[in-house]
Amino acid sequence: MGARVVVVGSINVDSVVRVDAHPSPGETVLGLGVELLPGGKGANLAAGAAAAGADVQLIGRVGDDDLGRRYVERLAEHGVDVSAVSVDGERPTGQAFITVAASGENSIIVIAGANGGVEADAAAHAIPDDAAVVVVQLELAPAVAEAVLRRARALGALAVLNPSPVSPAASALLELADVVIVNEHEWAALGEPADACVTLGGAGARWGAARVAPDPVEAVDTTGAGDAFAGALVARLAAGATREDALRDAVAAGARATTYAGAQPWGFSAPAPRSSDAQ
Ligand code: RIB
Repeated sequence: MGARVVVVGSINVDSVVRVDAHPSPGETVLGLGVELLPGGKGANLAAGAAAAGADVQLIGRVGDDDLGRRYVERLAEHGVDVSAVSVDGERPTGQAFITVAASGENSIIVIAGANGGVEADAAAHAIPDDAAVVVVQLELAPAVAEAVLRRARALGALAVLNPSPVSPAASALLELADVVIVNEHEWAALGEPADACVTLGGAGARWGAARVAPDPVEAVDTTGAGDAFAGALVARLAAGATREDALRDAVAAGARATTYAGAQPWGFSAPAPRSSDAQ
């Protein structure tokens, strides 16, 4: 197990609707089924880091509701330290409404719910002194990301920004991060930052001179693949891997994450997978 990875991020319950093809604006399509699954970019990343062997802590917030409670229990069962996940007495657990087409491509709408109750100072101060890698995404308020990155720097931890979903506020955060993980769309929106680690969808990822393509997989759902990639990348960096090795393992984790429905390889009520399933 490597040094401690701390993720400050969102925790969502995903309502996943499968369709043959995404509806166009103004169009109605018939869904093929709906499922409630664990999601949220922060929780997905933390679970991915834990699956990759990291000692990982998640700082976030859920509502005082059944699914929120069950989700936190599931994260703990899968190796994530949830002692800094707080409960919001007024807002429900965050939700995402996801449409997945037969191609595996998704579209996502997020309702912040309890994630909106994560406060910048509280989140930054919850980061333990022994954090080696601190990761933040942008489903929490930009002020949270800024405070978290500053605290990571102050602690001497590796400050990792995964500016997803990208917003105008993200540009100002780049200089506070040691590592920036983006997809091609985010990379372009941020002015093509030179040293970013860039995911390339089915083509893998690149980071500096390193470029890795995945082994072929049968993709059924791309939801959370970027989060799984980022989780594995930070886990491997925390364990002292080189950029190239971390990138290779992260690409493999991202590809694996497209082979099952949902953002994580488990549901709210499924039994914990055997350890060999998470490899
Ligand atoms: O990256 C995928 C995630 O984005 C989903 O799990 C959804 O909750 C949104 O946060």
